[in-house]
Amino acid sequence: MTSFVSVISLLLSFSLAIFSDAASFQKFPVPGKRSGPEAFAFDSTGKGFYTGVSGGKIFKYLPGKGFVDFGYITVSSKSQWCDGALGIAYMSKCGRPAGIAFNNKTGELYVADAPLGLHVIPSGGGYAKKIADRADGKSFLFLDGLDVDPTTGVVYFTSFSSKFSPGDVLKAVASKDASGKLFKYDPSKRVVTVLLEGLSGSAGCAVSSDGSFVLVSQFTKSNIKRYWIKGSKAGTSEDFTNAVSNPDNIKRIGSSGNFWVASVVNTATGPTNPSAVKINSDGRVLQTISVKDKFGDTLVSEVNEFEGRLYVGTLSGPFAGIIDL
Ligand SMILES: *[C@@H]1O[C@H](CO)[C@@H](O)[C@H](O)[C@H]1NC(C)=O
Repeated sequence: MTSFVSVISLLLSFSLAIFSDAASFQKFPVPGKRSGPEAFAFDSTGKGFYTGVSGGKIFKYLPGKGFVDFGYITVSSKSQWCDGALGIAYMSKCGRPAGIAFNNKTGELYVADAPLGLHVIPSGGGYAKKIADRADGKSFLFLDGLDVDPTTGVVYFTSFSSKFSPGDVLKAVASKDASGKLFKYDPSKRVVTVLLEGLSGSAGCAVSSDGSFVLVSQFTKSNIKRYWIKGSKAGTSEDFTNAVSNPDNIKRIGSSGNFWVASVVNTATGPTNPSAVKINSDGRVLQTISVKDKFGDTLVSEVNEFEGRLYVGTLSGPFAGIIDL
């Protein structure tokens, strides 16, 4: 009798576990022949999300309505010509939005487009306006991460490499390229400034909620650096943590002082063990969530928390994933 009851309860808890797992993870397939929802942004309405995909498009997802077009990097981005494999092959014609973030005061969406440079999409959507594709006379070549300082509206963004273009990302990593940079764009002065050079796969950046520093990841070196914006150390940088393997995008978690980092373990045959790593403002790891069961061994590019849910993006996969925390 006891064993019968325990078998029943075991079965029950097992099916509950399956059920709760299914309920806590949702897949959002990217429409058309587009792919790679690499990064996310949220607006002040608190509904839905924005994500940039292959072929130069930015979609807005509205609950009950699904994905709708929001923005285009180039005139071609809108066309079917930029769908699928062609859109990926002709990245420099279609665009490829990487890091995205809103200036919540103006409603503008800033975009680090990998091949085409820093852009801004007007409030409400439409075609992007190019702000810059070079600094100090040198082409960005391969932009990646982006954040907007929530206290000043200054835009921080990174180039993964100044020698390899986005199509050669694997070569950049294999050769341990260290020509990545951290930039800032001040919209009030309309000037792009180089803040850091010699970075090794600077994939992502995030400003702290109080605007005192910006973190920048070094994917190839498994390191995160901190660049001080304010205070006595302003203008200097230091190692922040080596505790996160192959960090990609970094996202601040509201005003908690903590950040989510997308992480993989990069091997000669490709990335494995994609996970979401939560760190605090001292660089200490607070939590690690493996997403391998949901994404396999793909390059998870961003984990971004919004209203109790974790949005998970990938560089080339067919869907975005949302995990209830
Ligand atoms: C803008 O607001 C959204 C939604 O509250 C938030 O997720 C995002 O981090 C804000 N952007 C900036 C740059 O602070």
